[in-house]
Amino acid sequence: MKILFVCLGNICRSPTAHAIFRQLAAENNFACEVESAGTSASHKGAPPDPRSIKAAIDVSFKGIYSRPVQSTDFDYYDLILAMDLENLAALKRRCPAEHQHKLNLLMSYHPDYASQPEVPDPYYGGARGFELVRQMIEQACEHLLVKLQQRR
Ligand code: 4NP
Repeated sequence: MKILFVCLGNICRSPTAHAIFRQLAAENNFACEVESAGTSASHKGAPPDPRSIKAAIDVSFKGIYSRPVQSTDFDYYDLILAMDLENLAALKRRCPAEHQHKLNLLMSYHPDYASQPEVPDPYYGGARGFELVRQMIEQACEHLLVKLQQRR
């Protein structure tokens, strides 16, 4: 199972999902490949935002650097999970028809977020926003892992 988490800059939300799900999978002996990317290339090569790292200080971000979504991702990954509707729409525009079924919102795996299944962009806000993002992503990742374990 190969999973790609996607946000806009790949420096706040998707690296958080990448780091958290990677750790959760390892702790639960769930074999999978985890990666993240941005629909924008504007932060290419940059490490995760220090505010994201601070909000998830107990999680390792080792080896995570921003990179843009590339066309080969749609074939390579089994599951491509966007952080919000804008990024999901950007993915849908680029994804070949045969891989559209791989696209979804991360928060759609969290039963409490059915009506508002988006991780808000924390970039222009304060630390509280980053803490909320970490909490939402962590909970959604737990639901995602259970769902994927049930499928195996
Ligand atoms: P992310 O957050 O998409 O969660 O990585 C953002 C990072 C950078 C910008 C916007 C959102 N930006 O406008 O530069």
